[in-house]
Amino acid sequence: MVLMSGVQPASVIRQSCTKRSGEYEKSYGRRPALAVVLVGDNPSSRSYVRTKRRACEQVGIDHRDFFLDSSISQEALLELVAGLNADDSVDGILVQLPLPPGIDERLVIDSIDPAKDVDGFTPVNMGNLLIGNPCLAPCTPAGILEMIDYYSIRTEGKSICIIGRSNIVGKPLAAMLMQRNRNATVTVCHSQTPDLRRHTLNADIIISAVGHPSLVDADMVSPGAVVIDVGITRVEDPAAEKGFRWVGDCDFDALSLKCSAITPVPGGVGPMTIAMLMSNTVKAAFARRAE
Ligand code: GUN
Repeated sequence: MVLMSGVQPASVIRQSCTKRSGEYEKSYGRRPALAVVLVGDNPSSRSYVRTKRRACEQVGIDHRDFFLDSSISQEALLELVAGLNADDSVDGILVQLPLPPGIDERLVIDSIDPAKDVDGFTPVNMGNLLIGNPCLAPCTPAGILEMIDYYSIRTEGKSICIIGRSNIVGKPLAAMLMQRNRNATVTVCHSQTPDLRRHTLNADIIISAVGHPSLVDADMVSPGAVVIDVGITRVEDPAAEKGFRWVGDCDFDALSLKCSAITPVPGGVGPMTIAMLMSNTVKAAFARRAE
């Protein structure tokens, strides 16, 4: 059984970003720059933003944080994004989701300049991804593909079951895996899928991105399958040092006895997502100069 840690492949990607951001600075006299917008004080979002800042510091990307009160109006938020779009010294814009109730998430995402959309969430990037055109691809699906390559897992002719149809993971990941260069046969399951087990048992590769602990148990996985766990949920645990721990969607201990490869949570897909955000920021910085 292969434990597919994200730590090593993420470090390889970060090293390449460090080199590229150094080259960018040499050519253009400043570092690539990422603006991160966080509205409200969701603890998970705050923790993600801290992790992103540390990663930027490591690879030589300038990081600008915008911490906004949850009472901010939609108009004020749209104005901030418009300012960042117009600011030539900003290469990447990331608006941390979820946004508070009362703000139309889609409207805010759609207002980001696609050339600076390092999350790959705008309709332009999503549309280009679906077509198979060059684009800024969403970081988690892109990180999963990098991980699959790092661990030499073949997708050609394989049945892949994705659980979860979010715009952030499930939908773009399905589009990427069914492209001609990946050649997988993809099934996307979701909360309204009857008999989930029928689909997962049939899969060579299972990718779960739901956020429900213990959703995938050993009875749902055929022997030798590859399991990629994108779910990350905070569960209270008085025995843990901090009083809580992070768990994935999959019953890791039972599944690891049965499958050929599995990602841990934490330390699996998470580090890959951050590494791909760094990669997209450097890519956006260079691409804007080439326009
Ligand atoms: N919230 C959870 N995942 C993500 C992500 O990848 N990008 C943004 N912007 N918000 C998120």
